[in-house]
Amino acid sequence: MSADRIERISRATQAVDPQVWIVTSRADDRLGGLVATFVTKASIVPDQPRYVVGIAKQHFTWQLIEESGVCALHLITEHHLEWILRLGIASGHHSGPNKLEDFRHTTLTTGAPILEEAVAAFDCRVEAKLNSGDRSIYLLQVVDATSLPELPTPLRYSDMWKSLLPEQRLQLEELHRRDQEIDRRAIIDWRADSLESQT
Ligand SMILES: Cc1cc2nc3c(=O)[nH]c(=O)nc-3n(C[C@H](O)[C@H](O)[C@H](O)COP(=O)(O)O)c2cc1C
Repeated sequence: MSADRIERISRATQAVDPQVWIVTSRADDRLGGLVATFVTKASIVPDQPRYVVGIAKQHFTWQLIEESGVCALHLITEHHLEWILRLGIASGHHSGPNKLEDFRHTTLTTGAPILEEAVAAFDCRVEAKLNSGDRSIYLLQVVDATSLPELPTPLRYSDMWKSLLPEQRLQLEELHRRDQEIDRRAIIDWRADSLESQT
């Protein structure tokens, strides 16, 4: 794709300002969680609630969701910036089997860890998944939830960047570049495999 076209697409993408979520999961006695912006409401039916999340395959949390088929989605505010640094930079692949050790957490129905200080949490079961090469895109059935009585405004991506200190911003940018490289290769390989299987 030409540099000019990439620039146009990137500029338009900046108009999208998603919420910042924490996704947790558990498989046996291993617990983990990460920061995610690829989280979207996927049903308008109150008694059939669904979300879609995209989790990259190199993450520890991906492995936990694959094994258990459950996860929890948490909304946060600017007061939870510390969570972003603790869960969005280090990987459970390196930090030991319980990345949630220092978080107060409980369970609802599925057994996925529910972070008690989140604004709201959805307890979810995987209903279906799509392999997109770099990620697994999970369709989630929400089976339970918890929320604060008064809901503050959840944190958006643009506000997250504004609230970070310069050195924290550098750390996240570095992580973002590293993930982009892994994802780019995985998407290109996946596309080549799909084309090959069509011929
Ligand atoms: C703002 C932000 C948004 C992110 N969004 C996603 C996402 O939607 N999906 C994903 O798989 N990783 C996402 N990440 C990356 C993971 O949160 C990060 O790599 C994490 O450390 C992985 O942890 P784990 O290996 O313990 O699961 C995001 C990170 C940040 C900081």
